[in-house]
Amino acid sequence: MPEITVHAVEPDDLADVLALHARAFGPGRFARTAYRVREGTQPISRFCLLAEVSGELMAAIRFTEITIGGKSGALLLGPLAVEAKYAGLGYGKRLVAEGLENARKAGISLVLLVGDEPYYSRFGFKRVPPGRIRMPGPVDPARMLAAELREGALAEYEGQVEAAPDASGG
Ligand SMILES: CC(C)(COP(=O)(O)OP(=O)(O)OC[C@H]1O[C@@H](n2cnc3c(N)ncnc32)[C@H](O)[C@@H]1OP(=O)(O)O)[C@@H](O)C(=O)NCCC(=O)NCCS
Repeated sequence: MPEITVHAVEPDDLADVLALHARAFGPGRFARTAYRVREGTQPISRFCLLAEVSGELMAAIRFTEITIGGKSGALLLGPLAVEAKYAGLGYGKRLVAEGLENARKAGISLVLLVGDEPYYSRFGFKRVPPGRIRMPGPVDPARMLAAELREGALAEYEGQVEAAPDASGG
């Protein structure tokens, strides 16, 4: 397996990352509830990462700074996209693990996502108790997952998810 390089997403990478999202998720991606949280935010946060091999983009992960019930210190993970021909080789796992580690070091308490519990449970993501955290649109409660980066953090968060003021660049 050739060597993977993981680094922060820079403005020059954005076109390639967005093209990867289009290939991975198709045109329906804009209708997803998680996209509504990210709408109007800066497309790159300090937590976004990509993986490349020999200069070719293989996978990318985005994190958006959010508030939950007005409380900061939380991130929304997504999208995570891996180029189809490189699926199952560990790129996704590495990006999630490094992203969570960076977030922990930066003092983030909670990471939220809408996704597959069987994939994300290995990183400590668990279902959010139904009704506790609300997104700006419908979400299957079985897919609303959170990872505590500080023990007991989930109990401190309740209410509506919104992009953090900083995330919108305003
Ligand atoms: C889902 C996705 C992110 C996984 O990344 P990846 O690099 O292919 O997977 P990794 O190599 O990191 O991990 C492989 C492991 O995850 C498991 N896995 C992959 N997708 C899974 C899923 N949807 N549910 C449960 N497990 C899954 C594999 O079985 C494998 O398990 P193992 O470690 O026990 O062998 C990637 O395939 C992808 O981009 N798919 C299309 C877009 C998507 O669905 N994104 C997720 C929603 S935001």
